[in-house]
Amino acid sequence: MDTSISIKNLNVSYDEKIVLSDINIEIEAGKIYGIVGPNGAGKSTLFKSILGLLDSHSGEILIENKKIDNIRKKLAYVPQRDDVNWDFPATVLDVVMMGRYPHKKLLESMNSHDIAIANQALEDVQITSFKNRQIGELSGGQQQRVFIARALCQEAQILFLDEPFVGVDIKTEERIIQILKRLAQEGKTILVIHHDLSKVKEYFDRILLLDKHLIAFGDVNTTFTKENVDKTYGGKLPFFE
Ligand SMILES: Nc1ncnc2c1ncn2[C@@H]1O[C@H](COP(=O)(O)OP(=O)(O)OP(=O)(O)O)[C@@H](O)[C@H]1O
Ligand SMILES: [Mg+2]
Repeated sequence: MDTSISIKNLNVSYDEKIVLSDINIEIEAGKIYGIVGPNGAGKSTLFKSILGLLDSHSGEILIENKKIDNIRKKLAYVPQRDDVNWDFPATVLDVVMMGRYPHKKLLESMNSHDIAIANQALEDVQITSFKNRQIGELSGGQQQRVFIARALCQEAQILFLDEPFVGVDIKTEERIIQILKRLAQEGKTILVIHHDLSKVKEYFDRILLLDKHLIAFGDVNTTFTKENVDKTYGGKLPFFE
């Protein structure tokens, strides 16, 4: 297996309250992973610990066999909507171009290659027509698409998307899923926190069911079962009936 991320004995607490306990997973390159679980299950916290954004956690996380500081440039992150300050004064194009920074040396300017990739990313999420608008002046779904475009523009090896489709219309969502599937086929690793259980089998290769503990993890066809979903959400969901 071509291991992309290896997590061993991960424990995370905030102010002594345990939020994630004893998580052990191996993420394989070239696959799309869905992460589901109820509110407060620790899904965003899992991303933040892998990305090295939390002050402390115990356990070992290796990405392509390296510690986070040696591989950060290869990771793209679309944070959950509420974690983003949308008042930040920048145009859509500015934000998308930020995806190119990891490819640049200090003060090196953008070239035609960077601009071509940014334009493609704008097109991929269909926001070309308002690329010169301030991000604060966009609708929620449009803002979300800007952040997805920034992640695509980064041409990262691993993409972390925290509820990327909140507020995004279904046509655009499906378009973006097709792009993510293509990236996975090229060998990239894609992790998506997602709430809509009806799409799990269609969108993801593997699924991670989380509720502070890892409830189940594996291939969608064998792991995304009624039993595991009921265990994760603490009761019966009408979804499988
Ligand atoms: N900075 C923080 N300080 C203290 N507690 C926090 C902090 N961030 C998250 N928590 C708590 O940790 C738990 C897990 O939060 P997390 O954001 O990871 O959940 P989630 O699964 O992403 O939920 P949601 O579906 O609502 O996005 C929750 O109980 C939350 O209240
Ligand atoms: Mg969250």
